[in-house]
Amino acid sequence: MRVGVDYYPEHWPEDRWPTDARLMREAGLSVVRMAEFAWCRMEPQEGRYDFDWLERAIGILHGEGIEVVLGTPTATPPAWLHERYPELYPADPRGYRKGFGTRLQRCLGNEIMRSYSRRITEAMVARFADNPAVIGWQTDNEFEANLCYCDDCARRFREWLRRKYGTLDALNAAWGTVFWSQEYSGWSQIPLPWEARCGQSHNPSLWLDYRRFASETTVAFQHDQVEIIRRLAPGHFITHNFMGLHDSMDYVALAEDLDFVSWDNYPGGAWHADRDPAMAHDAMRGIKEKNIWVMEEQSGIPGWERMGVRPAPGQIRMWAWQAIAHGADAVLFFRWRSCLYGTEQYWHGILNHDGIPRRRYHEIAGFASEVAKLSPELDGSIVKSRVAILNSYEQNWALQIQPQIDGLGWWEQVRRFANALGRRALGGDIVPITTNLASFQAVFVPSWYILTDDDAQRLADYVKNGGTLVLNPRTGVKHADNTCRTEPLPGPLAEVAGIEVDDYSPIYPTVPLSSAAEGNEGSEGCLIRMADGREFCAKVWADYLTLKGAEAVATWEQGHFPGEPVVTRNRFGKGSCCYLGTIGEAEFYEAVVAMIVDELGLPTLEGIPLGVDVRVRRKGEERFVFFVNQTGEDQWVPLPPIVETLLGPSGTKEAALGPYDVAIYKLAPRA
Ligand code: GAL
Repeated sequence: MRVGVDYYPEHWPEDRWPTDARLMREAGLSVVRMAEFAWCRMEPQEGRYDFDWLERAIGILHGEGIEVVLGTPTATPPAWLHERYPELYPADPRGYRKGFGTRLQRCLGNEIMRSYSRRITEAMVARFADNPAVIGWQTDNEFEANLCYCDDCARRFREWLRRKYGTLDALNAAWGTVFWSQEYSGWSQIPLPWEARCGQSHNPSLWLDYRRFASETTVAFQHDQVEIIRRLAPGHFITHNFMGLHDSMDYVALAEDLDFVSWDNYPGGAWHADRDPAMAHDAMRGIKEKNIWVMEEQSGIPGWERMGVRPAPGQIRMWAWQAIAHGADAVLFFRWRSCLYGTEQYWHGILNHDGIPRRRYHEIAGFASEVAKLSPELDGSIVKSRVAILNSYEQNWALQIQPQIDGLGWWEQVRRFANALGRRALGGDIVPITTNLASFQAVFVPSWYILTDDDAQRLADYVKNGGTLVLNPRTGVKHADNTCRTEPLPGPLAEVAGIEVDDYSPIYPTVPLSSAAEGNEGSEGCLIRMADGREFCAKVWADYLTLKGAEAVATWEQGHFPGEPVVTRNRFGKGSCCYLGTIGEAEFYEAVVAMIVDELGLPTLEGIPLGVDVRVRRKGEERFVFFVNQTGEDQWVPLPPIVETLLGPSGTKEAALGPYDVAIYKLAPRA
């Protein structure tokens, strides 16, 4: 278990480096990531490399016993490269090219860019492959899909399509280009899609292929670097700093080349829309179903031109322990010291601009010493849940291309399941469908909107062999081409679910959908009634189901067809499938989760307060349960049978956690 920091020695005078390294060591920081934006210092002129300064900085850190992860610097190509090749700048949909002076100003598909990326990577790795302090590499920084609209990308997209479809006839048939007279008679006629062309929308099949292409372009760019690092530094690990719930690209494909996933966690930033660290950690760990690193962990006030909020005392420590609870084996804080210049002057590090150790330094040093103490116990432990939520970047893109109605967004759907599982202390692993589903007792599936025959077979086999599957509405709507399937919904899973969707409607907040709702104008959603009489508010989507072997668990109380089934259960083979024909409030998902986990007899805890995050790390037969109080208030938590308190307040049946407090207990072996 490591605690470390992101460090930019090139931002500071060299005579300060020994002080920095000493302060790091004294704080218990044992690993540093660096160099990922330092191209202009490592290759000040084309072909003239200067790694001496970096070697000296690494040497000073090494002298304090600190290990180093190096980043390839390709997120910030130097000015001389762009001056020589202006065509490296990516273009936006209107053809406007990004200029110099920020970062990410490079088209990753461009062959010249790729060749310079290979050269700097090769030079850097050759120099540091045998450096005793260097243990691994980070490729680039926070990759995104290469959603570039330059002419070169248009040309390469058409080549990509030609490889995929072979003939224009095949492409025209797959995309249904007869619609609006779009049949292509030459490859050069195929456009890059963007929202606003003539104020009209593009063909969703064209869109989805472009998203795939843009994602694959980034994966290929990374692959160049990975190939070089593996060849020249076979003993080093390779990772990348992912961005949590960012979804422009296929993170599963990006991670295939890597040893493990790292990610950048800014739970208190106003910059990242997804301040949902628990779910993001699970999604990141789920990519490879393997422990992760947090390569950048918030260490202070975030800020570029404007500033976010100062983390409360204890909050930085809490977030960092939460990362470990979710499977992080290393937490590196971003950044060592707040920079004096540049865009991120107000992105506060462990030290302020004055470089003097203050509260944040001491809080992080305290965390590092706790980690050092518990490492012998926790090292080698992993997070593996009994239940999973499926994740898919393709489904996510398809729902972005055609949202249909607000509320079907991919992460929203994942979050509803994740929150309900969390209330029973059952964090779900958030995994791709290609995982070994049989290792989970229940699998929750957000709208599997594009349902290939292979995926349908995989899910059907899972249920047949004893799994419990929970499906959302809008499952089985599309083929892989993003054209509509013709089978009754949920398409090839109709038999597994034992239902057919007879009719459906989006639910808009202000439109009453039934006569029963008369006089209810403006009220949101519709009511559904469970077999036990409990009623829940339904929203976003209404499926009206015909039972084909399934039994109704809930029926519409209001809506177009009161009394019709909306939630069903079906036995199929040795398992069962639960179909949810609507989107509900939090309590609805809690009721569904309760029905399923109680039936399966899964060990859970009841009464987890909102805002308390619970995860278990296991090592062989040993299990460690983490309680993370994300709130600024005291919280009572129910305790399972424990044998030892490793951190935080002790208790028997329950324990009191202070604001932002963390507790870790060793669980009693299962009877
Ligand atoms: C991250 C990025 C860092 C730094 C930080 C603060 O997303 O990887 O380089 O920019 O945000 O803005």
